Amino acid sequence: MNRLEGRVALVTGSTSGIGRAIAAGYAAEGATVVVHGRDKERADAVVERISAAGGRAEAVLADLSRPGEAGRLVRAVLDSHGGVDVVVNNAGVMSMGTAGQVTEENVDEVLAINFKAPLFVTRAALPSLVERGGSVVNVTTAGAHRGSPGGAVYAAAKAALHMLTVSWAAEFAPQGVRVNELIPGATRTPMMEPLLQAPEVQAMLAQRIPIGRVAEPEDLVGAAVFLASAEASYVTGAVLAVDGGFLAG
Ligand SMILES: NC(=O)c1ccc[n+]([C@@H]2O[C@H](COP(=O)([O-])OP(=O)(O)OC[C@H]3O[C@@H](n4cnc5c(N)ncnc54)[C@H](OP(=O)(O)O)[C@@H]3O)[C@@H](O)[C@H]2O)c1
Repeated sequence: MNRLEGRVALVTGSTSGIGRAIAAGYAAEGATVVVHGRDKERADAVVERISAAGGRAEAVLADLSRPGEAGRLVRAVLDSHGGVDVVVNNAGVMSMGTAGQVTEENVDEVLAINFKAPLFVTRAALPSLVERGGSVVNVTTAGAHRGSPGGAVYAAAKAALHMLTVSWAAEFAPQGVRVNELIPGATRTPMMEPLLQAPEVQAMLAQRIPIGRVAEPEDLVGAAVFLASAEASYVTGAVLAVDGGFLAG
């Protein structure tokens, strides 16, 4: 199908996991995709996979934990493509630890990548999004909406991203830019794999996911395409959980 034909989409953190699946899904819908991450080899591999499937993609590397990199990333996209229609703020780092284990360095890193980077990527892209009637998809987590022990810093950073999403949805709507939130459930990716090995996590998830399995990255693609497409032209400030019923159950 061609639901994103002619669009330019920046998918941050698309060298791996959920972002990689979304990048491939957007390219299959006709978008020109900017694949982003820090790892050149994996970024090139994603671009090659998309090209081999008949899609259009290029890679831009940027370490979003560093000041100024969000703006540089967006400028590179605008220089190459003349504009951007869709921004998926997907790059993220998970951090687990109890209150006593939290350090200032850890808080700074988690906030920089999970909250500040989406903020500054979106702000840098905004003039182009306004010009082209574009949209933003922010990837958060169920933990931003439901407390659980041991992940407070990560959850709080993603909860900040939730409030950025709904605040900017309201602020940008009069300018024709939509901003939505996508919540992946537990998804089999390099970020999640070590946790999924733990028997107590497996037992907890088996009990708490009504659909009865963890997600594969491809399970997120349909919702991500929908939110970026004209089918969602009246959808902004929405919080779309693709979590097998985790938040419902
Ligand atoms: N997997 C889950 O169960 C789950 C559940 C809920 C929410 N999420 C969210 O979904 C998103 C994707 O997670 P995932 O599971 O697909 O993780 P993943 O496989 O570990 O991928 C993370 C991506 O983020 C990029 N990234 C990390 N730190 C970066 C930095 N400093 N600068 C630039 N890019 C950086 C990585 O790129 P490089 O390695 O190339 O730098 C990679 O492409 C994250 O926002 C995560 O919080 C995941």
